[in-house]
Amino acid sequence: MRDNDAPKPILREEYRPFAYRMDHVALTFELDSDATLVFSELHLQPLENENADSGQLLLDGAELELVDVHLNGSVLGADRFQQTETGLLIEGITKTCVLGIRTRINPAANAALEGLYQSSGNFCTQCEAQGFRKITYYPDRPDVLATFDVTLIADKARYPVLLANGNLADSGLCDDGNRHWARWHDPFPKPSYLFALVAGNLEHIQDTYTTASGREVDLRIYAESHNLSQLDYAMEALKRSMKWDEEVFNFEYDLDIFMIVAVDDFNMGAMENKGLNIFNSRFVLARPETATDTDIAGVESVIAHEYFHNWTGNRITCRDWFQLSLKEGLTVFRDQEFSSDINSRAVKRIADVRLLKSRQFPEDAGPMAHPIRPDSYIEINNFYTVTVYEKGAEVIRMMHTLLGAEGFQKGMAVYVERHDGTAATCEDFVLAMEQGGGVDFSQFRRWYSQAGTPALQISSEYDADSQSYKLIVEQNCAATPGQSSKLPFHIPLRLGLLGKAGQALPLQQTDKASQSTKASNELVLDLKDGKQVFEFENVAEQPVPSLLRQFSAPVNMNYQYSDSDLALLMSHDSDTFNRWDSSQRLFCRVVELVKTAKGDRLREHDSVAVMLQAFSVCLADETMDPALKAEIFTFPDIEAIADSQTDSANKAPALIDVELLHSARQSVLSLLATTLQESLLTQYQLLQDAQGDDYQLDAASMGKRSLKNTCLQLLSNSGESAAIDVWQKLAEKQYVQANNMTDRVASLKALCSTTSATRENTLTDFYQRFENEKLVIDKWFSLQAQSTAADVVEQVDSLRAHSAFNLLNPNRVRSLIGVFAMTNTVGFHQADGRGYQLLTETITALDRHNPQVAARLASVFTRWRRFDVGRQKLMQQSLQQIASIENLSPDVFEIVSKSLESNSGGEESA
Ligand code: TRP
Ligand code: ZN
Repeated sequence: MRDNDAPKPILREEYRPFAYRMDHVALTFELDSDATLVFSELHLQPLENENADSGQLLLDGAELELVDVHLNGSVLGADRFQQTETGLLIEGITKTCVLGIRTRINPAANAALEGLYQSSGNFCTQCEAQGFRKITYYPDRPDVLATFDVTLIADKARYPVLLANGNLADSGLCDDGNRHWARWHDPFPKPSYLFALVAGNLEHIQDTYTTASGREVDLRIYAESHNLSQLDYAMEALKRSMKWDEEVFNFEYDLDIFMIVAVDDFNMGAMENKGLNIFNSRFVLARPETATDTDIAGVESVIAHEYFHNWTGNRITCRDWFQLSLKEGLTVFRDQEFSSDINSRAVKRIADVRLLKSRQFPEDAGPMAHPIRPDSYIEINNFYTVTVYEKGAEVIRMMHTLLGAEGFQKGMAVYVERHDGTAATCEDFVLAMEQGGGVDFSQFRRWYSQAGTPALQISSEYDADSQSYKLIVEQNCAATPGQSSKLPFHIPLRLGLLGKAGQALPLQQTDKASQSTKASNELVLDLKDGKQVFEFENVAEQPVPSLLRQFSAPVNMNYQYSDSDLALLMSHDSDTFNRWDSSQRLFCRVVELVKTAKGDRLREHDSVAVMLQAFSVCLADETMDPALKAEIFTFPDIEAIADSQTDSANKAPALIDVELLHSARQSVLSLLATTLQESLLTQYQLLQDAQGDDYQLDAASMGKRSLKNTCLQLLSNSGESAAIDVWQKLAEKQYVQANNMTDRVASLKALCSTTSATRENTLTDFYQRFENEKLVIDKWFSLQAQSTAADVVEQVDSLRAHSAFNLLNPNRVRSLIGVFAMTNTVGFHQADGRGYQLLTETITALDRHNPQVAARLASVFTRWRRFDVGRQKLMQQSLQQIASIENLSPDVFEIVSKSLESNSGGEESA
């Protein structure tokens, strides 16, 4: 892309309201694969605002064939309107009127999966964020809310099912005898991005739900007929979600029918269209034979997430796309809470923090860093990020921590009371929380405007004579693009103190009038200054602080723990999150040590001895929840270890030496596996025997499977040949006997990193067994893409040519190329750059038809500056190669150009 036609950024401060009121829309679709006719009637009324006088109505539109324009029923002359590159400009709209527009579109040719497209021959839509403009000319912005009447007309034999938002108003046969029609009415005003239609040959399951106030809702989940047996779990999850939202938030469903449709071709996870959620089939289909426990948990949380959007997103929507976190951060928080209440809170929190640290922290430290409410973007699709979603949820969680459950609910009540039926801003939400909760969030608001992960530097002083204890807390936040210096954040720091025996020590703050004198075992401190000192009295012994309990803020917390401090926290902290966190810190510390130490003497090193002892005690602890134990024995990957070693915000992190770190990590894993071999085998066998042929889907059973497979995974890291023989036999046996996908995939995953004949045979068996299950074949690709075998790049390269690989299907692309580039650090970053080449080729090919998914893949390269100089050069070349592609999409352009900018984290770029 040449500089002079580089796309221009959109700015938050340039928001202007729409010049018209448009409260009703009627749409008619004559559906046809390659020539669908769309007739829209917009009921318009000029508003008295700064933009209204001109009578110029600017509608958004892209890739549309305009058939004709009508004003109040009569055809409008071509001199009254003008087609531009981005839309349609109509002159002289100064009075209340009905504007009719006819467009023709080609769904069959739509491989971008945005707007109206086809999946397995069925019609479906994806309009968020700006896909509606590919259907018809329209004010395609989230602050224009209208009620919709939608009529669908299609061939009855090919498209027997006709669905749209709202309630079904009427349906019938057309005069031609071949076609039929259905009309849907959605009484809730909504923006265009929540519009949806589905038409095709689909089957459904059906159930009902009676709301708290006694209204009966028809629940339906649609899929292609061969998937009909895989929908029951999603239906149960939906009913659980509906009930939970009534009980916890007082939110009831509001239409007569709620529908979910599963489609195989989808750019993201799922979409919350009013009354008609459309899902990537990956987040609907679930049965034990084909979905792992992780997949099933994913189905439950995405079903909940989209359902919860009905209130947080649909009833109250966003004024503009800069406010995206208003609906996404809040809805992620809600789905996290749902999953925590339904399953294990501790394990859910660990999983969420893992995601945050492994994906969001790097984003916040790289060239794409942005606040949860961004100030500018080139392509909004690039801002559906872990920052907006996951960090956004953390910001809501901090408000919950600061306000308490009750205060938070009061704030929510104010928010809904004030903004139901409107398009709101993040500021509206914060104001409601302040007023409902009776607090001052003026400093807290900085979480919305400042990017970057704050770093806490904490130290302590204990005085035995006076029994007083001091915590000295400093906060810093490194520069991010466009933000060279930051003001201090308001950070809730949850903490407790442990004595030598692991017992909780009471916390009593000195000289704090607002604090009750009664000591408690846990406190939340408000950090507000760059540096603060907190003093506690009557501390009977030198304590070990348990800091940032439950991960009370999205920050990097640094405290000089001794090895034995970490071991103590790991075995005794009442806060499960910190038990896990300490284990990961201990592991990272030993890897760091091994990087520089001599291999054969490792065992004699103090830190190593403490770590081995701590993990061995943990493994033997029969009182510990197996699911938590499994988390403790699931160790950070190379990049997470590298990130853990940067302990100050102002110090540039050391460049990642892939080979060195990988081999150090492997040595520690091997040491653990060898030392604990006997107990690992015993635990494995016990859990395997206890499970037998029985398969249960409850949290406890999932936890046990998770621990069993974690034991197997760790055993597979033992380097000794006798041990290899043992675990490979176990894995093989587990594969053959498995009656569920969790066990099958776990055994195959371990085998996949070997070069044994068993590997090939098992992979072949797996393929043949599940040839007709697309989601399982995705796993078959992923397993091979994750291999740590030396030839993985060649393997992935040849899999691209496999007959089942398909560049048009996002799930398939992600399962092979995405998994390889995002999770296989060693393989992808192979020193000769062939991994980079492979990704570059895929991005180049993909960008021609699906820029959104191509940009997601390209974002892997944003981390290029973290690696050694040789790899930096190679990745930079790849970025330049992509930047020089002709007709590069704005999506990929934005990622690539920001990555190449000279100062990625620092001062304003020139
Ligand atoms: N709003 C959707 C969600 O959070 C996200 C989504 C689905 C989306 N499809 C998309 C975002 C396409 C951008 C483009 O569940
Ligand atoms: Zn969402």
